[in-house]
Amino acid sequence: MRDSFGSRFGALVALAGSAVGLGNLWRFPYLVGENGGAAFIIVYIILCFLICLPIFICEFVVGRRAQENAYSAFRDLSGGSWWKYVGLMTVIVPLIVTSYYSVIGGWSVQYLFKALNFAFTSGESQSQISTMFSEYVSSPWLPLFGHTVFLAATVAVVGAGIKGGIEKFSKVMMPLLFVIVLGIAIYSITLPGASRGLDYLFNPDFSKITAKSCAAALGQAFFSLSIGFGTVMTYASYVSKKENVLFQSTATAASDLAFALIAGVAIMPAVFAFGLDPQSGPGLVFETLPYVFSQMPAGGVVAILFFVALLVAAVTSSISMVEVGVAYLVEEKKIARPWACVIVFAACWFVGTLCSLSFGPLSEFKIFGRTIFDFFDNLSSNVLMTLGSLLTVLFVGWRLKKTDIYDEFTNGSTLSTNARIFGVLWFLIRYICPLAIICIFISGLI
Ligand code: ALA
Repeated sequence: MRDSFGSRFGALVALAGSAVGLGNLWRFPYLVGENGGAAFIIVYIILCFLICLPIFICEFVVGRRAQENAYSAFRDLSGGSWWKYVGLMTVIVPLIVTSYYSVIGGWSVQYLFKALNFAFTSGESQSQISTMFSEYVSSPWLPLFGHTVFLAATVAVVGAGIKGGIEKFSKVMMPLLFVIVLGIAIYSITLPGASRGLDYLFNPDFSKITAKSCAAALGQAFFSLSIGFGTVMTYASYVSKKENVLFQSTATAASDLAFALIAGVAIMPAVFAFGLDPQSGPGLVFETLPYVFSQMPAGGVVAILFFVALLVAAVTSSISMVEVGVAYLVEEKKIARPWACVIVFAACWFVGTLCSLSFGPLSEFKIFGRTIFDFFDNLSSNVLMTLGSLLTVLFVGWRLKKTDIYDEFTNGSTLSTNARIFGVLWFLIRYICPLAIICIFISGLI
């Protein structure tokens, strides 16, 4: 019998775990500050709920209807047509993302060790901490070790199955993650000078809202909600038919948003309290923050908690991406789950190794002018996820039968609220979402 989530809470924390990840902790706070603070948050919320939530619901409906992996779901629901290749794409993209995601996951492992050794409490200067980071990422072996440990841990959770592995892990880790980040946020706003960080995050500047910032918001929302690359579809295929699609989807989107905002409040006030400029991505998490920890009272403990949180957020997301490939191999290729895990591990480890080495020995090797890491990051986050989301929404809105979608969305007409809003949802899915994705994508390129 096919494995499945054992409870409503279990499904919810697994979905939230897939959504909440590195995207929330290192990209969202910076994007908000750069793109007009509260004005960007408003745009982000509108795009999240108007465009991304309907796409999330589409993926959920497809996955739960089919009760199969993403490839088979596209193939079987479309009667075996070329749509299966879209399904195949949604199986491959998360594996590409896992490969480079695992490199950053590996850095988190290493930095957690550093924090446990109180490496950020001996009054290092900012440039010493930056040098520590650049020497670390450009050295070939240590990052590979972290990448291997992170990927092995991810695959071990997936190997233990849906109920016994992913659900159990998420049930413990997600509340822990939430408590840690909330605790750091509370501490951060009590630091003297923290209000400038809150200003940076929440002061609205509507002049910064441009087509490019809307494209950035949409890209971030796709990445953060894990849509357009098979994860929601795959997890939804393990959700009971009794669950309410609308509730599960809205609760996931809301918790992802709440977490991103809390992460912003945890990080930015602390950064500003020590007179630093925020950066995006690795610079923020592995250079700016360790320096902040080295300066703040009880920074050693905060550093440990922060890197635990970063690691947990990264693992709960990467398990959802690995599961997409594992489910495909188990169901389509009839490979036993442990072997499917080994195959996915090997593929992601190989690509991830190239990504990791692109910070050091392979840094001169460029694909279309980008390092291997940047190439895969850019290709998946800026192109393939958008394409995947567009094709999924077109699949549901224009290829599948409206009556089937209605049936799945309303649990056979038994959910009255869902039945009432279905008309609006259908309109969004058929017209607004595809048009908005195309317009924002194109305007972001110009
Ligand atoms: N949704 C995951 C993240 O935000 C991929 O990191």
